[in-house]
Amino acid sequence: MGEAEGSGSKDKRWSLHGMTALVTGGSKGIGHAIVEELAGLGASVHTCSRTESELNNCLLEWKAKGFQVTGSVCDVSNQAQREKLMNTVSSEFNGKLNILINNVGNNIGKTVSDYTAEDVSVLTSTNFESAYNLSVLAHPLLKASTAGSIVFISSVGSVMPANSASIYGANKAAINQLGRYLAYDWAGDNIRVNTVAPGVIKTPLAQRFFEGIEGGIETIISRTPLGRFGKPEEVSAMVVFLCLPAASYVTGQIIFVDGGTTVNGLFFPEPITNKGCPPKPI
Ligand SMILES: NC(=O)c1ccc[n+]([C@@H]2O[C@H](COP(=O)([O-])OP(=O)(O)OC[C@H]3O[C@@H](n4cnc5c(N)ncnc54)[C@H](OP(=O)(O)O)[C@@H]3O)[C@@H](O)[C@H]2O)c1
Repeated sequence: MGEAEGSGSKDKRWSLHGMTALVTGGSKGIGHAIVEELAGLGASVHTCSRTESELNNCLLEWKAKGFQVTGSVCDVSNQAQREKLMNTVSSEFNGKLNILINNVGNNIGKTVSDYTAEDVSVLTSTNFESAYNLSVLAHPLLKASTAGSIVFISSVGSVMPANSASIYGANKAAINQLGRYLAYDWAGDNIRVNTVAPGVIKTPLAQRFFEGIEGGIETIISRTPLGRFGKPEEVSAMVVFLCLPAASYVTGQIIFVDGGTTVNGLFFPEPITNKGCPPKPI
């Protein structure tokens, strides 16, 4: 029997040296943390966002830290721009890509019946079509690398309803299932596909979501067993683990990084006693 995948030397299993990655939406929040985590483990990373000035500031910071990161302006909800982005990545990395992180996502907070057709189209092209089409465009590059990995960024909203996030949640549920199908379809090309679903993480997106929802922050924290919001680097750590050779037998999974929010069940923020309901012998 030959050497099993992932059973190489410890240094190789926990390193991304020599690997290439594309992270969408790397100028802020979770995407920014993912870029830093990948680059810190030795990967060459390309990232994108829509705001050139912010992206350029990030690239300067990363250069100063000694990270190998390049970037380009791209709105991933637009197919022509997605094709241009993948052409850039292909020529930068000589037609091979090890890692694709479909990180971009956004919400428009409205009740179900207030959404316009335009809202639904913007949300679906940003949250779902971008990730689907970028994966298809990246497929030949991932296959050519002979060890490819895709990570989708979903949300607890994909399995738990939340105020003003019905279309976002439905888009993220579609992402969960897309990841499982791609894991199945592309396993033969040695491409692993996994999904990370965060709970509430301190980022500009979460800040926008909670503006104007009175008591929203306290409610979420009270329903989160770990009793706090997450940090971007707590999500990026899981994302990057899934891309490492050490994770070579993990594919088709949806992993919640949510402080326990999705398993809160009948969770009470304070310990309870049986005072009001004494146990009776059966
Ligand atoms: N934060 C949370 O609590 C939370 C919870 C669950 C899931 N998530 C998911 O985690 C992912 C990242 O969220 P985040 O909180 O880090 O968001 P964020 O703070 O709003 O950052 C989003 C990043 O993506 C870029 N971006 C947004 N739309 C884009 C587009 N159409 N094309 C290209 N770049 C775009 C942004 O830059 P520009 O605006 O300059 O383009 C920015 O760099 C999303 O998929 C989100 O749904 C977040």
